Amino acid sequence: MKAAVYRRFGPPEAVRIEEAATPLPGRNEVLIKVHASTVSAADHRARGRDVPRGLGVLAAPVLGIFRPRRRVLGMDVAGVVEAVGAAVTKFQPGDAVIAMLGASFGGHAEYACVPADGAITAKPRNMTFEDAVTLVFGGLTARVFLSRAGIKPGGRVLVNGASGAVGTAAVQLAKQLGAHVTGVSSGTNPDLVASLGADRVLDYAAVDVTTEGGTYDVVMDCVGNLPFERAAALINPGGALLLVVADLEAILLAPWRSRASGKLVTAGSVTYTPEDLAFLVRLAEHGHYRTVRDRSYDLADVVAAHRFVDAGRKRGNVVLRMPASSAARKS
Ligand SMILES: NC(=O)c1ccc[n+]([C@@H]2O[C@H](COP(=O)([O-])OP(=O)(O)OC[C@H]3O[C@@H](n4cnc5c(N)ncnc54)[C@H](OP(=O)(O)O)[C@@H]3O)[C@@H](O)[C@H]2O)c1
Repeated sequence: MKAAVYRRFGPPEAVRIEEAATPLPGRNEVLIKVHASTVSAADHRARGRDVPRGLGVLAAPVLGIFRPRRRVLGMDVAGVVEAVGAAVTKFQPGDAVIAMLGASFGGHAEYACVPADGAITAKPRNMTFEDAVTLVFGGLTARVFLSRAGIKPGGRVLVNGASGAVGTAAVQLAKQLGAHVTGVSSGTNPDLVASLGADRVLDYAAVDVTTEGGTYDVVMDCVGNLPFERAAALINPGGALLLVVADLEAILLAPWRSRASGKLVTAGSVTYTPEDLAFLVRLAEHGHYRTVRDRSYDLADVVAAHRFVDAGRKRGNVVLRMPASSAARKS
């Protein structure tokens, strides 16, 4: 099969298209013929070993020390089940699915294996593979963090980084919960963020959220510039700070800060479940969740896709199309 392989940490050019062995599904695994994946912030971080301060040592067992441990990036896939392991009963060849591979990566290839009891579920019937895959990375992350906050109808939520993959999902999911949502983005994206349901959009170049006067029940930081020290005063008593991006110190101090402040402070990695993925699919099928796809690249143009993601300005998701799906699209 063709795969986008990186054998050294480095810039986008570290990734090359190579022939690789097609994986074989284990007893409890599903082999997916991948139609689409995304190039995400996680791919950028893994490829460049660009992790928040202090997390390099903790990330080493996952990413590798001297060279990449997983040579194919891509945390998410949308595709069709090609084969299943002997013990798999939930899926069968021909099923259209979406799945989160998480820290195992491997989605930037024509085939990928996923545990059958992992975060895999039927693809939304009303979406193309390219659109469906955009539910996975940002949608699951936003869903897990927001679930920790116990948002109530009318609750006031601030989403910092509202135009990215996690932020565009968070704005929509918080609105679904009945919250009053304020999104923070650059001055080029207020229309996008408002179109997802945000009640207010602040341009971070024009307004400092920490001094503009708003207070919130939940502050969600998808950028990394609203740590506890800056955000605490914005959060109402009993509220929550969701640190999607956090350095080691912030992760270690989160439980203590929660106890000391009476405000939930939560950070760290996310456990991805099929139930959360199925929840997003149901929303999408009922027309309550919109995909935000900035642009799509063919696998052959994977370096260009990484360059675009590295610029840090993507709107929602950048999709990578696999060769067979490109051919199908053109036919
Ligand atoms: N904890 C976890 O398990 C977990 C899971 C997934 C992702 N993450 C992390 O979460 C972060 C966000 O991921 P993502 O996929 O949403 O990234 P993304 O798609 O690259 O989005 C980041 C967004 O931040 C915005 N931004 C840049 N500077 C900003 C500022 N000063 N104020 C407000 N917004 C700003 C950019 O929008 P504009 O162009 O509008 O500025 C961009 O769209 C990444 O660092 C990722 O590694 C963590």
